[in-house]
Amino acid sequence: MAILVTGGAGYIGSVTVERLRAKGEHVVVLDDLVQGHRLALDEDIPFYQGNIGDRALLACIARDHELEACIHFAALAYVGESVTQPGKYFENNVQQGIELMRALVHEGVRRVVFSSTCATYGEPEQIPITEQCRQWPKNPYGWTKFFMERLLDCYDTAYGLKFIALRYFNAAGATEKCGEQHEPETHLIPNVLSAALGELPAIRVFGNNYPTPDGTPIRDYIHVIDLADAHIRALEHLRRGGKSDFLNLGSGRGFSVLEVIERVREVTGREIPVRIESPRPGDPSRLIADPAKAKAVLGWEPAVSDLRSIVRSAWDWRLRHPRVSAAG
Ligand SMILES: NC(=O)c1ccc[n+]([C@@H]2O[C@H](COP(=O)([O-])OP(=O)(O)OC[C@H]3O[C@@H](n4cnc5c(N)ncnc54)[C@H](O)[C@@H]3O)[C@@H](O)[C@H]2O)c1
Repeated sequence: MAILVTGGAGYIGSVTVERLRAKGEHVVVLDDLVQGHRLALDEDIPFYQGNIGDRALLACIARDHELEACIHFAALAYVGESVTQPGKYFENNVQQGIELMRALVHEGVRRVVFSSTCATYGEPEQIPITEQCRQWPKNPYGWTKFFMERLLDCYDTAYGLKFIALRYFNAAGATEKCGEQHEPETHLIPNVLSAALGELPAIRVFGNNYPTPDGTPIRDYIHVIDLADAHIRALEHLRRGGKSDFLNLGSGRGFSVLEVIERVREVTGREIPVRIESPRPGDPSRLIADPAKAKAVLGWEPAVSDLRSIVRSAWDWRLRHPRVSAAG
């Protein structure tokens, strides 16, 4: 029996594939490579390049492999782009996502682990954020994930499809083999590393007047290895007949942008020029998870998500994988 991993050539997907295979799981990857990297996957992994909404391709994959479950990472995930091109996001993440779910149900697959996001909460009504907090996204990207959560819930009622929707906070860090490389890169830690390497003239800090101790926004960073392991636990939960659920995945601790930059300085020993710019509209001052429910339901706790380990792993990976062209 195989696990279909959509978006498995992307950042979090490729690490999850690595961890699944280390546990002896049979994995099949579907990715259109709009962002992902074929080289992030071992050559012997069955790989299909295509869109999650391609029903004929899904039927072909189901013919070639006996699918047991799907871990659904594939999505477009640039918040800013989703604001300027909402249609692109609803089309890719929701419309194609619906096609994927229809195909899975048609093929008899009834277990799905879904990549959701803390962006579904929007401006948080309390810190730390629990799963009970109101969800009211502040951008189209967050809405696409919100709608997919609702769709999964309705598919459970209608077709008995069991799912775990994992609401990630900020994924970061790397394994020896797989790390983060998006084009363009918008995430803080890879960009601070680029500044440390001189590939960026300075790290841009968007606002230093937030109601936080140093004035910069605070985020919850979770090591990609911990994230990947939560997916495996979610899969095991569904295999045990566990019920569908929505779970936060974060460390429960927050660090400001300036604290992250300082930690990168310590780990790399490099100078990191900082350029303060205007705050971005809609950026909350704090996003910190309450991960207690994931512990209760999955027995999951972050094991390697201290900021120094995250930065160290990302730095080591970057030194081993120099970029051909630096993002501007
Ligand atoms: N990185 C984070 O901090 C974070 C936080 C919250 C949620 N998420 C979610 O986690 C998932 C993975 O994030 P990531 O950082 O690894 O992103 P990523 O862009 O590295 O990976 C996504 C992969 O999906 C593929 N893809 C996109 N649309 C597709 C489609 N229609 N058909 C086939 N393949 C498609 C891309 O080519 C890419 O390889 C995404 O759904 C994202 O929204 C990420």
